[in-house]
Amino acid sequence: MRSPEGIRASRAVLAVLLMGVTAAASRPQMRRPEGLPQSAHAEVDGLALTPPMGWYPWNMFGEEPQNETLIKEIADALVASGMKDAGYAYVGPDEGVCFSRGEDGKLTTNLDRYPSGLRGLGDYVHRKGLKYALYTDAGAKTCSGAMPGTKDSEFEDMKAFADWRADYIKIDWCNSQGQDIVQTYALLGKAQRAAGRPVVHSLCSWGEGYPWIWAGAIGHMWRTTADICGPGKADWARALRIAFANEQLAGFAGPGRWNDPDMMIVGMPGLSEAQNRSLFSLWCMMASPLMAGNDLRDMSRSTVDILTNLEAVAVDQDPLGAQGRVVWNDGNVSLWAGKPLFDGSQAVLVLYQGKYRADKKIYWEELGLQASDELYVRNLWTHETTGPHAGSVSVAVGPDDVAFLRLSKKSDLPIPPVLVADTYLVTLRSKVARPETLTGKVTVTNKGSSDLPPWRVDPESLPPWLEVAVAGSGKAQTFVNTVSTAGLKKGAYHALVRADNVEPISGRPMSALYYDVDLEVVRNVRR
Ligand code: GLA
Repeated sequence: MRSPEGIRASRAVLAVLLMGVTAAASRPQMRRPEGLPQSAHAEVDGLALTPPMGWYPWNMFGEEPQNETLIKEIADALVASGMKDAGYAYVGPDEGVCFSRGEDGKLTTNLDRYPSGLRGLGDYVHRKGLKYALYTDAGAKTCSGAMPGTKDSEFEDMKAFADWRADYIKIDWCNSQGQDIVQTYALLGKAQRAAGRPVVHSLCSWGEGYPWIWAGAIGHMWRTTADICGPGKADWARALRIAFANEQLAGFAGPGRWNDPDMMIVGMPGLSEAQNRSLFSLWCMMASPLMAGNDLRDMSRSTVDILTNLEAVAVDQDPLGAQGRVVWNDGNVSLWAGKPLFDGSQAVLVLYQGKYRADKKIYWEELGLQASDELYVRNLWTHETTGPHAGSVSVAVGPDDVAFLRLSKKSDLPIPPVLVADTYLVTLRSKVARPETLTGKVTVTNKGSSDLPPWRVDPESLPPWLEVAVAGSGKAQTFVNTVSTAGLKKGAYHALVRADNVEPISGRPMSALYYDVDLEVVRNVRR
C-alpha cells in the first residue's frame, strides 16, 4: 500500500498531465463504455438539473478539524450570511474521521467527533432547510487511509448513507488500484438506487477515466481535474489552470450532468478581491457546481457579496445549463461566451490575466450574434445596465479581474428560480391510542423573479398514512403534510416526498425537491 503522500504525489503528476492535455488526449478515446443507459441519470431522479450549490470543508480545513461542531457552525453560517437565501444548500463533512467499519461489516459513526451520529447531524442540517452531503471513496480506503472505502461493501455502505439521510455523496477514487472505473461507479450508482434514497452522485476521479464521457448516465457531476489547492493554501495560478482545463470539456455539460472543476477557493486567505470575483465568475460561466470552500464563519463583506451575488448565481443556475467557453484568447485577455440564458439573453465574460489594464472591445459577431443587434449590456458586478449598444461594447478590466456581462435585446433581466426551504424535515409524533390527524409544513420560497406554477406531488408515491397538499401560489408555496394515524402500529414511519415543477420562462423541468417526513407512533392506534 502506498503512503497517502505517495498517492497524493502521483495524483498530482496525473493532474498536471490532465490539466495540460485533458481534452486533446481524450478525443481519440471518446468511446462510451457499453452497457450504460443512454439518458442522463438525472432524468430518473430529477436531481441537480442546475449545478448543486453548497459548502465542503476540504479546501480550507483538510481533515482537521472536521467534526460535528464545525459542520453545525458552518450550517448556521450558511443561513446567517445570506448564502442559503442565494441557493447554497448542500453541506457536510468531506474526508475526516467520520465513520469506521464494524466487525459486522457495517459502517458506524465516529461518535467522538460526531456525538449526534451522522444521522443526527443530517437531521440538524435538514431542519435548517439545508441538504446533507457526505463523502466516501470507491476504493479500499479513503485517500488518507483513515476511513474504509466502499470497495466490496457498495450496497451496505450506500444503505448506511441513505439511513444517515445523505442527499449528496462525493465518491473519491483513492486506493482503487486494479478497479475498473466505469464498473465501480456504475455499481455504486446501482447501490444508491437499491438504498432507495435519491442522492446527488458526485464522482471524484480528478478526470481519470474521462468521466465526462460516461458519468452522466450514473451520477450528476464529476471532477475534471486534480485538487484546486492543498488544504488552507489557495493557489491562484493553479485555479486558473484548472478553469482552462475544465473549459475544454464544455460540450459534455448540461442539465443534470456537470463538469466539476472542484470546490471554490473564493474567500480563502491569499486571494485578492479581484481574484475572488474572477474565480466566482468563471465558475458561474462554466455552469460549475458552486461548492464554497472557505471558512463561512469568518468572511469579509466582500466575500459574502461575491458568493451571494444573485445576478452571477443566475448565470450558473440558468435552466438551459450551457457551459460557457473561450471564444477568443490572446494569452492575457480571454473572451468567454457560448452561454445562452433562459430568457434569450447571453452571458459573456472577459478575464484579464495581465498586470496593468485591458481595454477589450467585444463584437457581437465574436459571440455568434448579429452585428445589427441592438443589445442592452448588464454588468453583473456593478449592477448597471447600459445601451442598447449596436454591434459592440467596450470594457476595461484590471489585473486578475473580469467583466461579467449579460447581453439582451430586453432591458428586463429575470433571475431563474433560487429555491429556499424553511426545513427539509417534518417530524410528527402520536402518543395516543385513538386515531389522530397531524400536520407538518414545509414552505419553499423562490428568490428568483418568477411566480412558479404549483408544485406537484404524485399521490401514488406516498405511503397510505400520508397526504400532501400544496397551499399558496407563486413565490412561496407550502407543502401541507397530513398524517392519519388510524390503524397504525407502534413504531417509526418515514416517507421521502418528491415534488416536481417547471420553470415558467423556459418551460424546462426544475430540479426535483425532496424532503423527509418522520412519524413516531408511540402506541398502537385503533382504526
Ligand atoms: C481528494 C479530493 C479532495 C478531497 C480529498 C480528501 O483529494 O479530490 O477534494 O476530498 O481527496 O482526502
